[in-house]
Amino acid sequence: SKPLKVGIAGLGTVGAGVVKILQGHAGLLTRRAGRAIEITAVSARDRSRDRGVDLTQYHWCDNPVETASLDDVDLVVELIGGSDGPALTLARETLSKGKSFVTANKALIAVHGKELATLAEKNGATLRFEAAVAGGIPIIKALVEGLAANEVTGLHGILNGTCNYILTRMEREGLSFAEVLADAQRLGYAEADPTFDIDGIDTAHKTAILAAIAFGVAPDMANLPVEGIRTIAPVDIDYAKELGYRIKLLGVARKDSAGVETRVYPAMVPLTAPLAGVMNAVNAVVVHGDYVGETVYEGAGAGEGPTASAVVADIIDIARGNLCPAFGVKVADLQTLPAIPADKH
Ligand code: HSE
Repeated sequence: SKPLKVGIAGLGTVGAGVVKILQGHAGLLTRRAGRAIEITAVSARDRSRDRGVDLTQYHWCDNPVETASLDDVDLVVELIGGSDGPALTLARETLSKGKSFVTANKALIAVHGKELATLAEKNGATLRFEAAVAGGIPIIKALVEGLAANEVTGLHGILNGTCNYILTRMEREGLSFAEVLADAQRLGYAEADPTFDIDGIDTAHKTAILAAIAFGVAPDMANLPVEGIRTIAPVDIDYAKELGYRIKLLGVARKDSAGVETRVYPAMVPLTAPLAGVMNAVNAVVVHGDYVGETVYEGAGAGEGPTASAVVADIIDIARGNLCPAFGVKVADLQTLPAIPADKH
């Protein structure tokens, strides 16, 4: 069958990683997808930067939004970031044209996910965002496909590598929050604006997406109280430990007969719980399903290889013709459930 032609908008760390996998695993991916996956176009601000990959054979777009209109692009990969601006314009343009859209952009999906899923459905396009949550961990496919038999009653996760890295080093080395943050930025875990990481907003975006898929509701940032880790001091970490706990920034989502509760906060996790042992920049998610019970997913939540791995999995999914709706159910079947205020628990 015909090759799937891919345009990649945004050539930062993850974009370069996607190119490396598509080039380096071309034969393997063709067998898996049942057709060739070809990059045809790329777009980034800086054309001259050495990204460690050969980009010379691809059409270059100075404006990322152009990639949506190219005849030889069937699928756009958006790795620009930001909930609005060019990422949103590109998403709308791509899906309106009935082309598939793959993104690692959690802010975009958390804020505009319902609109974009609607646009995808209307135009017979496919929307995928596995890389937006917990990087390399296939948590969205786990919820949408592997756990599809279950009513999910709750999930919670360590969804921000920067915060987990900071908390780990504060505990192990007795360092202050500010000292470790500088290192996290140097290592490239933190977002360009680290307030999104440390104030819990990045975790909130990911929690809103997971809750949407787990419970079949639209992502809802408006009913998601967020507290970050800025105010945590080494002394808090020490006290928690004395009591048998470790402080972890968690994204939590629960559903019961009263409705849905989503929340992000630095939680006291019992040292015996699965998430207590997850250290450094690692992410992990615990999901409770009514038939399966508890399942736990752990792995790299950020970085070139892991995030690109998830992006390419989505491309393969589309090449295979998997038409499953982005949130696991069609937009018309998303439910509206009451939001339970966090202080009711
Ligand atoms: N800044 C994010 C993190 C990157 O620290 O986990 C992945 O979304």
